[in-house]
Amino acid sequence: MAGSDFSVSPGQARRLWRLLGELGLAYARHASDERTPVLERRERRQPGPLPQKKQAVERVLRHATRYLSRNACHLYSPRYYGLMNPRPVWAGVLGDALASLLNQQLAVEAHAPGATALERETLGWFLEALGWRRGLGQFTSGGSEANLVALKVALNHRWPAVGRGGLRALRRQPVFYVSEEAHHSLEKFADLLGLGREAVRWIPSHASFALRPDVLAQQVRRDRRAGYSPFCVVGTFGTTSSGALDPLATLVRLCRRERLWLHVDGAYGGALILSPRFRRLWGAIRRADSLTVDPHKWLAMPFPLGVVLVRDRKAAVCPFGVQAAYVPRGAPVENYQLGMQWSRRFLGLKLWLVLQSYGRGAYDAHFAEQMRLGERFRGWLAARPQFGTVSESPLPITCFTYCGEARAARRRIPVGSLTRFEQQMNLTLAEEMVRRGWAWISATRLHGARVLRMMVINYETREKHLRRLIADLERLAADPAVRRLARRAPV
Ligand SMILES: Cc1ncc(COP(=O)(O)O)c(C=O)c1O
Repeated sequence: MAGSDFSVSPGQARRLWRLLGELGLAYARHASDERTPVLERRERRQPGPLPQKKQAVERVLRHATRYLSRNACHLYSPRYYGLMNPRPVWAGVLGDALASLLNQQLAVEAHAPGATALERETLGWFLEALGWRRGLGQFTSGGSEANLVALKVALNHRWPAVGRGGLRALRRQPVFYVSEEAHHSLEKFADLLGLGREAVRWIPSHASFALRPDVLAQQVRRDRRAGYSPFCVVGTFGTTSSGALDPLATLVRLCRRERLWLHVDGAYGGALILSPRFRRLWGAIRRADSLTVDPHKWLAMPFPLGVVLVRDRKAAVCPFGVQAAYVPRGAPVENYQLGMQWSRRFLGLKLWLVLQSYGRGAYDAHFAEQMRLGERFRGWLAARPQFGTVSESPLPITCFTYCGEARAARRRIPVGSLTRFEQQMNLTLAEEMVRRGWAWISATRLHGARVLRMMVINYETREKHLRRLIADLERLAADPAVRRLARRAPV
């Protein structure tokens, strides 16, 4: 009998793997090359019809890699200073390929015993770092899903009846608190959980863009008086725009006093928990109730890889502990009991492989070097008359601004003092930098003002790249065509 169309001989399989390796390396070389524009869009693609005939996999693979490598934002570029998206560690890429090859189904332990053991070991390292010996963790598709799971755990922990009866089982409207700089996923999930977006209380931030606990405390009191039920505070450890660190030690005390769940969104900065050397920054996370970490950000894993960790495993399994007849009998803790998915990819393998290969020390050095580079960049900017910093996180995210007018030399420029033209220049400089392919930086808003944003995220970025970024910014800022464009830019 003829084999399936999908069958491959061992020889073909070996050739195709080898080809993939070669194409992948060629891509990495192209994307890392300093002459390659960071964002390339060379060809428009017209959607074709559904293929009817066969063609050689090798040909399709070559075509796909060629097309994709010329139409991509290159995270491999050392001049990519983007939105927390890393150049992936090569061993992590291999781990992901191995996960596809093994194709384990992680829904229940009985079905994937070895894979479950490696994932649990890896999650155990995170829990151990936090001292959460009775905790539970799960890999997720990313920080958004991790935040959703944590919010649901917090909700059901406070009102166990919600799991069966839904929100109509409650007499009062639940509300939760986040900083105005928190990630948008929290607003989205307030809607998804049936709480409604109005259940999100956006708390203003200080001049440092960290949440103001005094305003939070007042808002909690006001809400209780008005008949609402506060149940959770989300503190961000590394905000998306400026890397601000919410005052977690104060939030811990406030949440204990007010009996509120404290979730820490450490999608980016939470990676630091692997590093005892930086415990002075993250130590208070140990006293929170749950934590989001995204290894596909600062741990430089290929997408997707998020983690949600809950300090008390009893609270964690309660919302998701449903049973079904078709679940194979096996180990008592089922992998789907903390999360949204049933069929689940062997997500944790890549991180296990990287930690096994390089150990925690490599991440220590990685964090320290990127923070050093961030500090260097801020120092160089402060010495330039045309630019100044507006944020002050110790993490390697810097928000800064073009200075159109002579400003007295100061460490940090208040965003409230930025002129309309300075803000227009900020937006235009970010857009022009990307359009010309010189680097990928972006503009964001802080307290309503448009500012420039960059972060060191690629582990191949060096001081020379940052020097070049500043030189390029100066060149652009002096260009009359750019200044004309800026005058037409929205604020
Ligand atoms: C603070 C914070 N939380 C959550 C997220 C969402 O993470 P993901 O994109 O992995 O869903 C991000 C993404 O940038 C983030 O910065």
